[in-house]
Amino acid sequence: MTVELTFGHHQVQVFEETDSLIQGLAAHIYNQASARLSAGKQFHLSLAGGSTPKRLYEWLASERHFTHDLWQTFDIYFGDERYVHHSSADSNYRMVKEAWFDHVSIPAAQIHAIPTDCDDSQDCAMAYQQTLQAMPMKNGLPCFDLVLLGMGDDGHTASLFPGTSALQETGRWVTSVYVEKQASQRITLTYPVLNNAREVILLVTGAGKAEILQKVMTTHDIHYPVQGLSNPAGIMWYVDRDAAKGLL
Ligand code: 6PG
Repeated sequence: MTVELTFGHHQVQVFEETDSLIQGLAAHIYNQASARLSAGKQFHLSLAGGSTPKRLYEWLASERHFTHDLWQTFDIYFGDERYVHHSSADSNYRMVKEAWFDHVSIPAAQIHAIPTDCDDSQDCAMAYQQTLQAMPMKNGLPCFDLVLLGMGDDGHTASLFPGTSALQETGRWVTSVYVEKQASQRITLTYPVLNNAREVILLVTGAGKAEILQKVMTTHDIHYPVQGLSNPAGIMWYVDRDAAKGLL
């Protein structure tokens, strides 16, 4: 059973349990990918990193009704990456590979990891921008069918952190940024690309995100990076009751 809440252009679906949330979001991904398969098109999906979505990726790996043909429609991208080797425990790519890719038949050529092996992280960002050039375009920008994002307890999303230059980037589709707070060099998609997607979904769970979720939905004097997201269809949120306790 879910509760639907609306805060401006934010549509929040509150699930009683985290497991029902994960299954609901997996079902939505199945439906979206199946629609693209039926239309004879690829499903261009940008993934969230961090810890929250791992359970979703593990669930997707276990879903037996995702057929081999359906996996062939997936073209997978990443919303951001830490500037570490893909074998690092901090790598978003490694997390998703172990939770999901290693267990399904998505062709390796359709898994577009953000490169992290350049001498300069901005070179990696530019290389990823080249990769995005091959995507379907809308408004002269890459157009993802679905962008899946998380949110930190400071309101960041992807690697668009408060007070960083990446928030002001409107030319580059991908940029590198040093995040002081995390002592981490990051590579991230920027607002122009994120806001050009057909659908944007935020996956947020746990009591630790309740305060920031309430602030994002109800305060307008402070601007949190996640509030910079926009989409004609609205921004969809899949949250559990623990994360939503400040909204109910
Ligand atoms: C990353 C993510 C980042 C993440 C938030 C939430 O690389 O860390 O892309 O934007 O979604 O930091 O992280 P948790 O899910 O671990 O709370």
